[in-house]
Amino acid sequence: MNASALNAKNKIPAPEWTTPIADALERVERTIESAADSSVDIASRISSYVFAAGGKRIRPSLVLLSVGISGGSPEADEVIRMAAAAELIHTASLLHDDVIDSAVARRGVGTANSVWGNTISVLGGDFLLSKAFCLLSDIAGSELVSVLSRAAVAMTESEMLQAVCENNVESWRTEYWRIIRGKTASLMGACCESGAILSRANAEARAALRAYGENLGVAFQIADDLLDITGDPARTGKQIGSDLANGKFTLPVLLATKHEHFPKELVNGGRISLEQARELAEFIIESGAAAETRQIAKTFASQACEALEAFAPSPFKHSLQLLALSAAARDF
Ligand code: IPE
Ligand code: IPE
Ligand code: MG
Ligand code: MG
Repeated sequence: MNASALNAKNKIPAPEWTTPIADALERVERTIESAADSSVDIASRISSYVFAAGGKRIRPSLVLLSVGISGGSPEADEVIRMAAAAELIHTASLLHDDVIDSAVARRGVGTANSVWGNTISVLGGDFLLSKAFCLLSDIAGSELVSVLSRAAVAMTESEMLQAVCENNVESWRTEYWRIIRGKTASLMGACCESGAILSRANAEARAALRAYGENLGVAFQIADDLLDITGDPARTGKQIGSDLANGKFTLPVLLATKHEHFPKELVNGGRISLEQARELAEFIIESGAAAETRQIAKTFASQACEALEAFAPSPFKHSLQLLALSAAARDF
């Protein structure tokens, strides 16, 4: 399935920032398909299922655009392989995350865990993660493996940190930034840095792209946390309110706790019912905490754009700027 077909499937038109990398993204799709193939039928089936469901393909796009902005060719074979590996790592983390969160919907369809159960989903995630490192080992140089391995470690650590913070608002207040930097910004930073490595950019360009990716990742996760409260499931393809119901007290909740009439009893231990989650969501919107959260996401998106200042104007730079702004403002 090609990239535009994927977007069409979820009724999302290909975003403007994909324009300079449209052909490369098609090749990434084919590489993902063959990398995720297996002689074990269930391994192929779960992989085809999660990739065919759609997804925005932001991590491969970051690799391709970072190569482009730093003077390399997004069409080079090793770049396409790296971009596919990034999406495999991301999708592996989603398979695991949906088991951890007991999520029922992802990319507009039932989660893999709701179709095949937790055992197959966890193993499906392990399969895709291992396949990603097979792809990476085909690319010359150990630096890429090192950058991507460190991101995979940070993602796992953050999911663990998040699990131990569950249902405890004070733990979330202490650890929120560390959690989102580890689970989302680390991989986006690694995608951008790997693009710089592949185009043999100098140390300054590499650090600038890393900073862009990390700030984008923070903006992206803050917007995601907000979507759990204000989003439309028809657009996000995910169930709304699941963070609250799972005792994840993210930035919109933390900001709302500052308000005088915040319903403290709802976050003081124990599981929140769907009705209580709705009540809390309403308070977060009415108290202005949702708007404040959006503003903070936009600040990180601006910092991402500032990190690109030293790069000469190009269609790739323009796309990275558009991507950052749309990540903070997104409604899916
Ligand atoms: C979902 O990422 C997980 C988060 C980091 C919030 P995306 O929103 O990029 O998921 P897909 O790939 O488009 O489905
Ligand atoms: C991001 O966290 C998950 C990963 C980086 C794997 P979330 O739990 O918020 O992601 P969604 O909302 O399920 O996509
Ligand atoms: Mg989740
Ligand atoms: Mg989320």
